[in-house]
Amino acid sequence: MSQILISPSILAADFACLGEEVRAIDEAGADMIHVDVMDGHFVPNLTIGPAVIEKIRPYSRKPFDVHLMISPVDTYLEAFAAAGADIITAHPEAGPHFHRTIQAIRRLGRRAGAALNPSTPESALDYVLDELDLVLVMSCNPGFGGQTFIETQLRKIESIRKTIDRRGLEVILEVDGGVTPATAPRAIDAGATALVAGSAVFGRGKSAYADSIAALRTSARE
Ligand code: DX5
Ligand code: ZN
Repeated sequence: MSQILISPSILAADFACLGEEVRAIDEAGADMIHVDVMDGHFVPNLTIGPAVIEKIRPYSRKPFDVHLMISPVDTYLEAFAAAGADIITAHPEAGPHFHRTIQAIRRLGRRAGAALNPSTPESALDYVLDELDLVLVMSCNPGFGGQTFIETQLRKIESIRKTIDRRGLEVILEVDGGVTPATAPRAIDAGATALVAGSAVFGRGKSAYADSIAALRTSARE
């Protein structure tokens, strides 16, 4: 099995010193930095936008894995690309023309991702999968950290894994929501190759970031 990517979600970080938090998880062994963008409309919570991403960008050279939970989304893609997003992931429900959204992300020279809500079937990917760099399976309802892993999503991960392999694609299959050392092995078994984790990385405080990331990695190998 190739190496599993760990993408800590800074939603669970201390927003008063976000730059330092990004540096800390980078040094603690994160592979990517997961940034949750929420608009209070597509999801019932508000977080940060491109201006903050631009400010925290210099604190790590690792890829910024930007998860957009906003609608409309197309009008903001350029701003997120300019702010330093490397992977831009949007939800198919965020606009009427998801294929156009993916095209726009790629035209900006960024990697494109599709995020599926727990109730969104994998068939939403049928005609776009070949143009994606990442698929994010939401194992919680988007909007908040610290929720419970939704078991039914394992079946979806399995099904997407089969399609990726059958088509011979190199797509990162990421799982987001309630990922812990207990749930991570199940997601990996189902075929995930990247883990987003907020509470499981930040929950035990700064002195434990490296341990918390290592615990996810070890559990994924078991
Ligand atoms: C939820 C976000 C997640 C969230 C995960 O909308 O997409 O990235 O931060 O948090 P945990 O790992 O605490 O479930
Ligand atoms: Zn996320």
